[in-house]
Amino acid sequence: MTEKKIRKFYIETYGCQMNFSDSEIVASILSDEGFEACLDLHEADIVLLNTCSIREHAEDRVRKRLHYFRSLKKKNPGLTIGLLGCMAERTKIALIEEEQLLDIIAGPDSYRHLPGLLESVESGQRGIDTILSADETYADIHPVRLDSNGVSAFISIMRGCENFCSYCVVPYTRGQERSRDPESVIREAKDLFLQGFREVTLLGQNVNSYEWKEGNTTVNFPLLLERIAGLDPRLRVRFATSHPKDLSLELIEIIAKYPNICKAIHLPVQSGSNALLDKMNRKYTREEYLEKIRAIRNCIPGCAISTDIITGFCDETEEDHQQTLELMKEAAFDFAFTFKYSERPQTIAAEQYDDNVPAEIKERRLREIIELQQELSSASNHRDLGETFEVLIEGESKRSDKQYFGRNSQNKVLVFPKTSQKPGEYLKINVKRVTSATLIGEAV
Ligand code: 5AD
Ligand code: SF4
Repeated sequence: MTEKKIRKFYIETYGCQMNFSDSEIVASILSDEGFEACLDLHEADIVLLNTCSIREHAEDRVRKRLHYFRSLKKKNPGLTIGLLGCMAERTKIALIEEEQLLDIIAGPDSYRHLPGLLESVESGQRGIDTILSADETYADIHPVRLDSNGVSAFISIMRGCENFCSYCVVPYTRGQERSRDPESVIREAKDLFLQGFREVTLLGQNVNSYEWKEGNTTVNFPLLLERIAGLDPRLRVRFATSHPKDLSLELIEIIAKYPNICKAIHLPVQSGSNALLDKMNRKYTREEYLEKIRAIRNCIPGCAISTDIITGFCDETEEDHQQTLELMKEAAFDFAFTFKYSERPQTIAAEQYDDNVPAEIKERRLREIIELQQELSSASNHRDLGETFEVLIEGESKRSDKQYFGRNSQNKVLVFPKTSQKPGEYLKINVKRVTSATLIGEAV
C-alpha cells in the first residue's frame, strides 16, 4: 500500500494583527488534519492568502500577487490556491470568475471548513464558503504560532464589529460582534506563559466592548484584562484596538493599577472635526475625545497614545483638516497611522456620500499630517532621552549581531548592546540617543 503524501501549506498574510492571529488559527486547523505548515512558498502544495479589504490599495496588492501565483500554477497545475479573509468575504464568487485561478474562497468564519474545502478541490470541485457566523470565536483552537519570536503572541478575544463607521468595510467582512469565553482566553494566556512567552496582545476590532455573560455574571474588558494581568507579573499584557466611545474610566484605572499592563493605548480618532466625526458615525465629538486623552494623561503618567487618522473623507473642508492638525497637537500623539480615504463598496459612505475631495488635495493633506506627526513623534522620543525603561528583550537587532532589540511598556523599540540576558528576559535600559523610530540605549 502506498502512503498518502503529506500536503504542505503556505500562508501569506495581509492586513491587521487580527488577520495574523487568524492565520495561526488556520495553521492549527490544517495541522490537526494532517497537513504540514511550510515556510517556503515554492515547497507548498497549497498556497493560502489571508487578505484585507480595508482600503482599495490592500486589495490591489493581493490582485498583483495573484498574477504571480498564476505563473506558479502554470508550472505546477496541481498547486491549490486559496483566498481567505476579508477580501474573500467581500468579493466572494466574483473573484473566482475574475481570476479563474482560485480553488478555494473562505471567509473569516469558515476556517473550520478548510479541510473539507480542500477535499472538494481534490475531487475536482471548487471549495467556497463565505457564510458569516453569529457565534464562531475559534475558542477551542490552539493557534500554531507562525513566525514567532517565542516572546510575544496574539490572542484574539472577540470577532466582528457592529459600529458601522460609515467608511468601513469591516462590519460586512467580519460580521456580528461576538466575545470569546474568558476562561478559554485565560487558559491560552497561561499556556503561552508556561511555554516561555512574556507578552500577550489581546485582539479584537473593538476590544473595549468585550462582554461575556454567563448566568448572573458579566465579564467586561477591564475585568478580563485584570484577570490576565493577575496571572504573573512577568507577563506583559497589551491590547488593540480600542474605540474612544467605549474607553471607560474603569479601564483607565485598571491599566494604571497593574505595572504589567502596558502603558500604551491605541485610540483611533480618525478626524479632529465634529462635522466629519458625525459623518463618519464615530459617536463622539472632538471635545469628548480630548477629554479621554486628558483622563489617560492624568491617571497613567507616561502613557503612550497612538492613533489612526483618515484624511480626505467626503466633504472634508480645509477648516476640517486644520482641526485635525490642531487636535493632533493637543493630543500630542506619540505615533499615528495615517491614511487617505478610500471608498469601499457596500459601506454607508459609498452608498450615501460623494467621495468628493480631489486626489491631489487628499495627497497634500496627508503630507501635512505626516509631517506634523513626525515632529510629534520626534518630540516624544526626545522626551525619553536620559530616561531608564524596563525592556522585554525580543531578539537580535536586524542591524548588528552584537545588539538586542526589545520594547518598553510604551511600545517603543529600544536597541542596546547584548548582555548575558536572553530574549524573553527583562532589562533596565537607559536611553542615550534617539532616531526617528528607535531609542538607542545601554543596560544599567
Ligand atoms: N479608507 C481609509 N482608511 C480606512 N480605515 C478604515 N477604513 C478606511 C477607508 N475606507 C483606517 C481607519 C482604521 C484603520 C484600521 O484603517 O483609520 O482605524
Ligand atoms: Fe483588513 Fe479590516 Fe479585515 Fe483586518 S479586519 S484584514 S484591517 S479589512
